[in-house]
Amino acid sequence: MTYTQLKSQLLKKEDPFTEIIGQNKVKQQLKSALIASRNLIIVGAPGIGKTTLAKNVHNLLPKDSSFVRIQGSPDLTVEDLLGDIDPIKALKFGPLSKEAFNPGKIFKANNGVLFFDELNRCPEKLQNSLLQVLQEKKATIGSYDVDIDANFIFIATMNPEDSSTEKLSDVLLDRFDIIYMGYPEDIELEKEIVTTKSTKIDAVKVDEKLLTLMTYFVRLLRESPDLEKKPSVRASMGLYERSQANALLKNKKQVDLEDLKEAILSVLAHRIRLKPSVRYLKSTTEFITEEFENVLKSNAAREIKKTSDGP
Ligand SMILES: Nc1ncnc2c1ncn2[C@@H]1O[C@H](COP(=O)(O)OP(=O)(O)O)[C@@H](O)[C@H]1O
Ligand SMILES: [Mg+2]
Repeated sequence: MTYTQLKSQLLKKEDPFTEIIGQNKVKQQLKSALIASRNLIIVGAPGIGKTTLAKNVHNLLPKDSSFVRIQGSPDLTVEDLLGDIDPIKALKFGPLSKEAFNPGKIFKANNGVLFFDELNRCPEKLQNSLLQVLQEKKATIGSYDVDIDANFIFIATMNPEDSSTEKLSDVLLDRFDIIYMGYPEDIELEKEIVTTKSTKIDAVKVDEKLLTLMTYFVRLLRESPDLEKKPSVRASMGLYERSQANALLKNKKQVDLEDLKEAILSVLAHRIRLKPSVRYLKSTTEFITEEFENVLKSNAAREIKKTSDGP
């Protein structure tokens, strides 16, 4: 039922994922994977809209269908996912009875969607129990065989592997199609994301050129060969929100370059990481300050500086 409805929605609407701006190739891949009823993982850096996109699938489903979200984390247990034996019911119905079993979140997704956010942040043990459910559509809890239906569309997200994530096993990966998602394709799209998705302060205006400057700076840092961790879309949004707040604090109606400058370190410093070879030579703060000064000296920014600095 859910599948049929989802497929017809996907075929009917040209852009079913309206929450996400741009990312047309990703949307196309997602449509195709869902139409083919594949289990899928959306993979990409933090802050590029993976969770938002996956949640958008929910809006395409019939109102009464289930959409269960599981947040992957190192302390998530197999019991959270699959369920456990209720001791009181076990006394009443017998320890091996199905009635004594208290089903976990995964079974609530039956006939709907199971959305597993940040799949590779959960322990390996949990991955194995997930594999069994995907494979056999049932689960084993300790020595109990619990035969419960677990038919769902499985959508997961994850960040590319790093030291804080678990590697997914090949057997698990073999059950999925992977959709890779990148940073916003161009500066205009990113500016649109920033202006539509950030919190706006109505009393304060942000000049188009200043918006271009802050977004351009974030995008430039992303391309820097000196960085091993790059600033996300949340960084662009943060600059926009914080420079407005800075202007408001000074009772100004328009954001100027000073307001942006005052926001930069607090928004960006922890969102980037220098490569070890560069870290040895300068601090993150020095790096950002220098890079921003260089941008201001460049032709691209000269005009913005002129218009927002005053004479
Ligand atoms: N292409 C995009 N379209 C719309 N919003 C976006 C886009 N990329 C990022 N965002 C915004 O950035 C923020 C982070 O998105 P989120 O889905 O939580 O990212 P992720 O799960 O990849 O870390 C949200 O406020 C979201 O609206
Ligand atoms: Mg997310």
